[in-house]
Amino acid sequence: MTKIDLRSDTVTQPSPEMRQAMYEAELGDDVYGEDPTVNALQDMAAEMLGKEAGLFVSSGTQANLVSVLAQAQRGDEIILGDKCHILLSEAGGTAVLGGVFPHPIPTDDNGLLDPDDIANAVQPKDYHRPRTVLLCIENTHNWSSGKAITPEDTRRMAAVAKDAGLRVHVDGARLFNAAVALECPPAALVEEVDSVGFCLSKGLSCPVGSVVCGDQDFIDEARRWRKMLGSGMRQVGVLAAAGIVALNTMVDRMAEDHANARRLAFGIAEVPGIDLNPEDIQTNLVRFRMPAGNGAQLAQGLQEEGVIIAPSSHDLRMATHYGIDADDVDFTIAATAKVMAAVA
Ligand SMILES: Cc1ncc(COP(=O)(O)O)c(C=O)c1O
Repeated sequence: MTKIDLRSDTVTQPSPEMRQAMYEAELGDDVYGEDPTVNALQDMAAEMLGKEAGLFVSSGTQANLVSVLAQAQRGDEIILGDKCHILLSEAGGTAVLGGVFPHPIPTDDNGLLDPDDIANAVQPKDYHRPRTVLLCIENTHNWSSGKAITPEDTRRMAAVAKDAGLRVHVDGARLFNAAVALECPPAALVEEVDSVGFCLSKGLSCPVGSVVCGDQDFIDEARRWRKMLGSGMRQVGVLAAAGIVALNTMVDRMAEDHANARRLAFGIAEVPGIDLNPEDIQTNLVRFRMPAGNGAQLAQGLQEEGVIIAPSSHDLRMATHYGIDADDVDFTIAATAKVMAAVA
């Protein structure tokens, strides 16, 4: 039976070239800083993002966690969007493990935070108040259908934070998707920010890993937190090798995922019962609403047709990625129309 898994870009399998590089990787003990493949990946990532140094970490969640904990002390406050991954989908780790207080502010449909809201969220210097130390931005913005945040918008948000003496972190789990969609170098997206993490294990199709980049002092502190979190990994070049292949071969390829996402969005937007403006789709995430609340039935029906999406009543998502082609998209559109006709 056909199996088209659109739950997430995290389901991607490594390419044959990645598997070969993993097999052949030169290894050392990374806790001693002696794994040449990890070091090469970290240097490569830092250079691509215009930062001094990089740090290989186990996941996007850990990239955010070490970035926040390296820049905020217990009792400090961070400003972030009310629909961001750090707030909604990381099990409250920054509060649990770091004692760092999240201060959510509204997020618009494009994944942006209003500079006035940022300025107003900064706590006055008063010993009754937590100290505001960090602004977190997400690019691409997952909950906003993978919207790519432009360098100008990042600059506008970061400028307010900088004026107030805050540091700025970008959760760039899908930063390279943003760079491809906006046709700009990835470094241009993080010029004004102090720290950025991106995932190798999503559209870049590696089996494991993320990289955090920033200045050397920040990376030293993040390394310390990574150690405390139990992720000082040893001969981890076996994973980093896939990351190097990904940065060399998978970035431009993501344009195909974006084209497939738009094809999918334009197709399913025609299906009665699905609420979606396909023009909103810029990268590889297609979010849509099911006003009648029958999303779980759609997910169930699609599963019977061989298409997997995460079940939810009203808000659903399909993600395109390495391994999904235009035929899979067309099959999914047809299956969606068939299932929805039966549901109606
Ligand atoms: C925007 C964003 N940040 C962070 C993460 C966390 O990545 P991981 O699943 O590797 O922990 C995700 C995962 O989907 C994400 O979408």
